Amino acid sequence: MTTDVLPEIGSIEPNRHGYRTFTLGRFTFERDEYFAHVSWPKGRHLLPADAFLRALQRDIAWGFFYGIVNFDAVIGTVNHYGTVDLYAGRFNDHYRRAGLDDIQNFDTPLIQRVFEAILEDWTNATFDPFASPAETGSAFGPKNGSNKRAITRHRVTAKRMIGCPGDEPRRSDESGFPVNRHFTDVTQDEPDVRPEPGFEGEVVAYNLFAYLSRSDVTWNPSVVSVCQASLYCPTTEEYVLPVIHGNDRVEWFVQLSDEIHWEVEDRDTGTLRARVVMKAGDVAAMPADIRHRGFSPKRSMLLVWENASSELPALYASGTMPPTPVQF
Ligand code: PHB
Ligand code: FE
Repeated sequence: MTTDVLPEIGSIEPNRHGYRTFTLGRFTFERDEYFAHVSWPKGRHLLPADAFLRALQRDIAWGFFYGIVNFDAVIGTVNHYGTVDLYAGRFNDHYRRAGLDDIQNFDTPLIQRVFEAILEDWTNATFDPFASPAETGSAFGPKNGSNKRAITRHRVTAKRMIGCPGDEPRRSDESGFPVNRHFTDVTQDEPDVRPEPGFEGEVVAYNLFAYLSRSDVTWNPSVVSVCQASLYCPTTEEYVLPVIHGNDRVEWFVQLSDEIHWEVEDRDTGTLRARVVMKAGDVAAMPADIRHRGFSPKRSMLLVWENASSELPALYASGTMPPTPVQF
């Protein structure tokens, strides 16, 4: 077998399962029929291929998101907004105590390029990493084609709001977004907007529930409205959030429909802090020092409300701001 490795881009020859091997700094990524294997000088780890690809897809699509994206309890990334840390065991008390953890910093474009190459090579034609398990085929087996269309979906990021002139459009059957099987009871009427003459292009309203009922992806917050640093990022959820998100700021959750169970842990050690069951209408502020993973027994609608101010991580990290917006 050829062992040639292009720096940072991966092996030229696929392995016996048909998948290429990738290196990024001290980390190596390999896949077989069932698992992604990650190794670093002091350790090795494996994750189910479907879970790994779901996490990788989101890390890439979200530009490494706010704070920490744990793929599982061992592997993940920390966003420093310009550079990104790739780590193993850094936020796992047991790996830290045993001295088996590792962390390495990369310029964002480099890690982005390598992660995109892994996602493209390891995603088979049958698998859509953004879809719910009930709405996609298998991620497993030897290499079997590719699914570029699924992994390069347009990410919805409104400049002002869905439906504004020149902004992100509403969704419809015609534009390829049918109502999801779990949301057939969601009414599809649109608000009746009657602006004063002269304000026709400026007064806009849309049916957010109808918009979300037509989402073709899960666990993928999209920016539907922007007011300075205040971003409304609703999403439709089904099965398990593919990452364990470590916050670097407070996030507000508004459960718009159905039910999600959250597992909330200490961000740095993984110690369990709370289990939160959110039902339609419930509102929660997730603290700035936790990590969390959601479980949605059927497709549900969740509004994630983010504050995108770039000063926030330093204010929380220095203790200038308490990690919760309200002290009881
Ligand atoms: C979160 O980590 O806050 C998060 C991420 C993706 C979602 C929902 C919540 O779909
Ligand atoms: Fe979060």
